[in-house]
Amino acid sequence: MDTLRWLDEENCIELIDQTLLPGKFKYIKAKSIEAVAKAIEILQVRGAPAIGVMAAMGVALGATKFRGKDKEKFYEYMETVFERIERTRPTAVNLFWALERQRGIIAKNAGKDVAGITAALIEEGKKMRVEDIKINKRMGANGAKLLKKGSRVMTHCNAGSLATADYGTALGVIRAAYAKGRIERVYADETRPRLQGAMLTAFEMVQEGIPCSLNCDNAAATLMARGMIDAVIVGADRIAANGDTANKIGTYSLAIVSKAHKVPFYVAAPISTIDYSLKSGAEIPIEERDGDEVRKIGREVICPDGVDIVNYAFDVTPAKLIAGIITENGVAAPPNRKNLAKLRK
Ligand code: MRU
Repeated sequence: MDTLRWLDEENCIELIDQTLLPGKFKYIKAKSIEAVAKAIEILQVRGAPAIGVMAAMGVALGATKFRGKDKEKFYEYMETVFERIERTRPTAVNLFWALERQRGIIAKNAGKDVAGITAALIEEGKKMRVEDIKINKRMGANGAKLLKKGSRVMTHCNAGSLATADYGTALGVIRAAYAKGRIERVYADETRPRLQGAMLTAFEMVQEGIPCSLNCDNAAATLMARGMIDAVIVGADRIAANGDTANKIGTYSLAIVSKAHKVPFYVAAPISTIDYSLKSGAEIPIEERDGDEVRKIGREVICPDGVDIVNYAFDVTPAKLIAGIITENGVAAPPNRKNLAKLRK
C-alpha cells in the first residue's frame, strides 16, 4: 500500500485520503503547496514518518512552482514554502527533520541552476520515501525478537503502513512478528477523538488477515486485568533525548495501566523521531486541535452547546514507563539518555 508517492508525469504528490477510510479507499492528488499543507492539517496524511515524507515532497512540489531563473528570488520564495509547511503540525519532529534535510539539499546544490536544485529536491523526497520503508523493515525485525510466540499485543492510534511510507513502525513490528508466528491477536484501541485505531489500524489488520479485536480506549485495564494482553507496542511523534515519548493522546494512560499490570510497554520509532536537542518530554510542543473533534463523532454532535472542550492531540509518556524503544539501529532498553545516544549513527 503506497501511502503517498511522487508522480513524475504531473510533478505532484498522490496520497491516500485517510479521512475517507475505511469506507472509501481513494487516492487524491496534492498539486499546490496549499493542498500539501491542508492535507497534513486535516489528517488526509498523518503519522509522524508519513508527515515527514509529505513535507519533503511538499518542498519539492513548491520548487516546481517557481517561475524564473533568478536564484536569489528562488531562495526567498522557497523560504515561504518552508514556512507554510512548518506551520502545519507542531509535534511530530519528522516534519522538521525532513525540512532540514531539504534545506541541506538546497545548500549542497547551490552551484546548480533553479531547475537543477528542483530536480535534486524531487530526488531527495523520493529517496526519503524508499528509505522509510527500509527503516521500518529493520525496526520490525528488531522488535519482533522481543515478543514471545503467540503474543497478544495491544496498540494505540495507527502506527502502520498508513502512518509511514509503508509497513509501519509499531504495526511493522507486529507484521514482522506475525510472520514468525509470534502474534496470536492484536488489540486495537479505537483512539478517540479521531478514531485512527478503529478507522485505520483495524482496516490494515483486516486487509492483511492478522487477527484483530477493536476495543474502546477505556477497556485497556480490564483486558490486562483479565490476562488478555502480553505486550503493548505504540509509535511515537517525538522522543526526547532521555526517552520521554510524545504519542497520540491516551498513550500515557495506557503506559500507566501497563505498568500497573506488569505488561511490557514498547515504543517503535525511527531515529528521525528522536529529538536529541530536547532534554526531556517537558520541552515537546503538544498540538491542540479544534474542539469539534471531541464535540462530534463523525458529523453527530454528542454534547450540549456551550460546553468547553479540551483537545490535546498528543501526550508525553515518561521514559520510566517504557520497557524499550525499538529503532532501526537496535533497541534502547531501558530507554535512557545513554542507551538512546548509542543508537545515533
Ligand atoms: O494525529 P496523528 O494521526 O498524526 O497521530 C499519529 C500518532 O500518534 C502515531 O502513533 C505516531 O505518529 C507514530 S506513526 C508511525
